[in-house]
Amino acid sequence: MKRIQIINGPNLNLLGKREPLLYGHQSFEAYFEELKKKFSTVELFYFQSNNEGEIIDKLHETGFDYDGIVLNAGAYTHTSVAIADAIRSINTPVVEVHISNVFKRESFRHHSYLSEACKGCIVGFGMDSYHLGIEVFML
Ligand code: DQA
Repeated sequence: MKRIQIINGPNLNLLGKREPLLYGHQSFEAYFEELKKKFSTVELFYFQSNNEGEIIDKLHETGFDYDGIVLNAGAYTHTSVAIADAIRSINTPVVEVHISNVFKRESFRHHSYLSEACKGCIVGFGMDSYHLGIEVFML
């Protein structure tokens, strides 16, 4: 079975409560249960942290023998050279995802330090961005 790690960064533990007009009303835990049902032929793992170093540690931990990583680094997307370097340091391909369409938002969200290091990016499809991110590893 393929193993796919989902990593969520800062403030994404508050999905469902946080700015619901932008991010919706569903918690990630509830959505993750749906994802596991939809992708019953793969092993899905979920990790969330508000700390940059813990996100990097999880990339290192899963980045050599998992089949894919779906990463929403939250605001670290726009600030973190260290996460970009971690993505470049591992073998497992990483798909960058965002729930909101960051290009419709403030200009500081238009730049990602991570995109260049990632296999590709999925942006703006609500929670379905994660579903689409996993699909990449099914191709
Ligand atoms: C986000 C977009 C980021 O700009 C923001 O800081 C987030 C969430 C998204 O999924 O739309 O925390 O990554």
